[in-house]
Amino acid sequence: MIKHWLTSLLIAIQFSALMLPTLAVEEPIVQSTSGSQTMNTFVADLMSKMTLEEKIGQMNLLSIGFDVTGPVVSKDVDSKIRKGLVGGVFNTFTPSAVRKLQEIAVNESRLKIPLFFGYDVIHGHRTIFPIPLGLSSSWDLDLVERTARAAALEASADGLHWTFSPMVDITRDPRWGRVSEGSGEDTYLGSAIAKAMVHGYQGTGYEKGDSVLACVKHFALYGAAEAGRDYNTVDMSEMRMYNEYLPPYKAAVDAGVATVMSSFNEINGVPATGNKWLMTDLLRKQWGFKGFICTDYTAINEMIAHGAGDESKVAELSFNAGIDQDMVGELFIKYGSELVKSGKVSHSTIDDACRRVLEAKYTLGLFEDPYRYMNEERKTAQTMSADKLALSREAAAKSTVLLKNANDVLPLDPKENIAFIGPLVKDKRNLIGNWSGAGAWEKATAVWDALDTKFGANKFLYAKGCNLVDDQAMIEKLNRDGAMLTKDSSSPQQLIDEAVATAKRADKIVVVLGEPFCMSGEAASRSMIGLFDNQVALLKALKQTGKPIVLVLMNGRPLTLPWENENLDAIVETWYGGSMAGPAAVDVLFGEVNPSAKITMSFPINVGQIPVYYNAKTTGRPFDDKEKYRSKYLDVSNLPLYPFGYGLSYTKYDYGNISISSATMKPNDTVTVSTTVTNTGKRAGVETVQFYIRDLVGSITRPAKELKGFRQIALQPGESKTVSFDIKRDDLRFYNSDLKLDAEPGEFKAFIGPNSRDVKEVGFTLVE
Ligand code: BGC
Repeated sequence: MIKHWLTSLLIAIQFSALMLPTLAVEEPIVQSTSGSQTMNTFVADLMSKMTLEEKIGQMNLLSIGFDVTGPVVSKDVDSKIRKGLVGGVFNTFTPSAVRKLQEIAVNESRLKIPLFFGYDVIHGHRTIFPIPLGLSSSWDLDLVERTARAAALEASADGLHWTFSPMVDITRDPRWGRVSEGSGEDTYLGSAIAKAMVHGYQGTGYEKGDSVLACVKHFALYGAAEAGRDYNTVDMSEMRMYNEYLPPYKAAVDAGVATVMSSFNEINGVPATGNKWLMTDLLRKQWGFKGFICTDYTAINEMIAHGAGDESKVAELSFNAGIDQDMVGELFIKYGSELVKSGKVSHSTIDDACRRVLEAKYTLGLFEDPYRYMNEERKTAQTMSADKLALSREAAAKSTVLLKNANDVLPLDPKENIAFIGPLVKDKRNLIGNWSGAGAWEKATAVWDALDTKFGANKFLYAKGCNLVDDQAMIEKLNRDGAMLTKDSSSPQQLIDEAVATAKRADKIVVVLGEPFCMSGEAASRSMIGLFDNQVALLKALKQTGKPIVLVLMNGRPLTLPWENENLDAIVETWYGGSMAGPAAVDVLFGEVNPSAKITMSFPINVGQIPVYYNAKTTGRPFDDKEKYRSKYLDVSNLPLYPFGYGLSYTKYDYGNISISSATMKPNDTVTVSTTVTNTGKRAGVETVQFYIRDLVGSITRPAKELKGFRQIALQPGESKTVSFDIKRDDLRFYNSDLKLDAEPGEFKAFIGPNSRDVKEVGFTLVE
């Protein structure tokens, strides 16, 4: 997937040679005042003038042709717009580019219905923030909302009305490349982040033209693909769906998300895109979702390969499932009229879908002013403004996880003689990660550039050490995705020798390694998730020097790092930090920012452990290494290398005893669980105190631990704060085998700690 905004400009230029309209053209439609009754009347009046084909046209979502994520590219977009056969367009932006298409819609189509313009604004638009998995590690909901807000300001100033974000797919398989786009393995945190992102994108409304419609995706369960292989089958019990996987989508709906995207996968034998239970019974009827549902890229057509029927049949299934917009596949416009005429799809199904799409346009104010979002001055003022770059730096630093720091090798002191080694020290291409199509990697600040700005780079030693990737076949595969990987003219051994010679002259070595950016994201699953052999060979050679080694990682998923954890002094996970990744890494490495992030996906020891996640069930034979007949492996522990919620700081926090206000909880009671956290180190820091619950006995078995709350506290050296979590009966509810959400009386445990593993516990009983 190659993304470049220049492409959109070039494509827009093609639209300058417009053809004359062939249909009778009516006067422009002007939206009156806002308000739901007015909107209903307006939309009903408009729909009364629409032909069946024009209504189905609103259900057609086309891609302008770059950022292609599937086998099909939309064709003849301008003539289809002119015929009223397009509801919205994505993959084009800039006020001038979208204006050209909007002009066709409102000047040359019969009913002059404006288009809306969507795009994958996933972790920033022009200013790029850390990848979502990284940002979730900040556990800072306000920060998450502020980054989504900033993205909305930039995107809306660039002619966009709609972002295909947030992705809230819970995932427990780091082989899946798309873990980078979500918030990790936990339902509670994932739900809170979903809400924060929807609020950030949609703001307080659309009157000012500075908010965008959010789109929660991929509905549903896309992150549970078997074996972490993208687009793969999902087969899951309803109880697991309801308790663990569905809540983040529901949280987005409750937060008022305007749109939902269907997922590519099947669920228990029925593709999500043709799944009436999912789209209509659950999403609309049970959850009360009122917005519109689009498919993922050609997802209707892909139901043919799933084995659901031919083109006409899969279109029928999707119409009747409750899908409102067909992304790129064009089967709705191809078969819609025929299916209605044959009675296989009802008029009211089409009317409902068309109405929902028009309501979104009305809500955006597009009937009032179709060009509201197309303002060059706003674009200039918003794009990569100083406040957004500062936010990007803040977000990247707050997303950086300190995984190991033996003997306080970090933070670094600029007076030390430090060698920076590795192919990512000077790299810019990878910093902004995947799904950053409008972001210019050339404008990102590399680690080396940040060192130079702050201290003068000639203070430090440098060696490349290795290629990011050595394997020629892999280089060729990734370069097709825009990786821009090259091999150094020096041989791998020469690169290592040079790095070792450089390292010998230093007091400390900082090695910056990781994955090329396009090894994560869509269609980027891996079966092995360690650092490449050539990178490990460099680390092993550097280890021979006996100097302290700090490994700085840039990557998009949890990696397997057992050797690195055993042999290196410090490990710093920076993910793909975005436009300001370099300065943020320098802020953390030199202690200007004390790291506070904690991982939101477990890091396995090896691939064989996957899925390994903190909120698993205990089984009837819980782990015990001394016993044979237990649920375990002979060759590896059941525990991950780094558990969910784990991350260190340059200071130390001491967790006091855990106390509870009452060991018995009646139905209307609130019980409070508390502890005191003290900063026993020498630096100020921010700690995320985590609160978990275990329901010991249930009508269905319950996870060994579930996150139910967290607080971030700032502590000066020597300072203590008491942190309390209230539990009410509702916090103990779960979906039972009748899919009824309820709490069951009995024994519970409450846990507080700095991560999901190192907790203190206290028991209580819920009584009738
Ligand atoms: C992805 C979606 C994305 C869409 C549009 C698909 O291939 O799965 O996440 O929003 O393309 O670009």
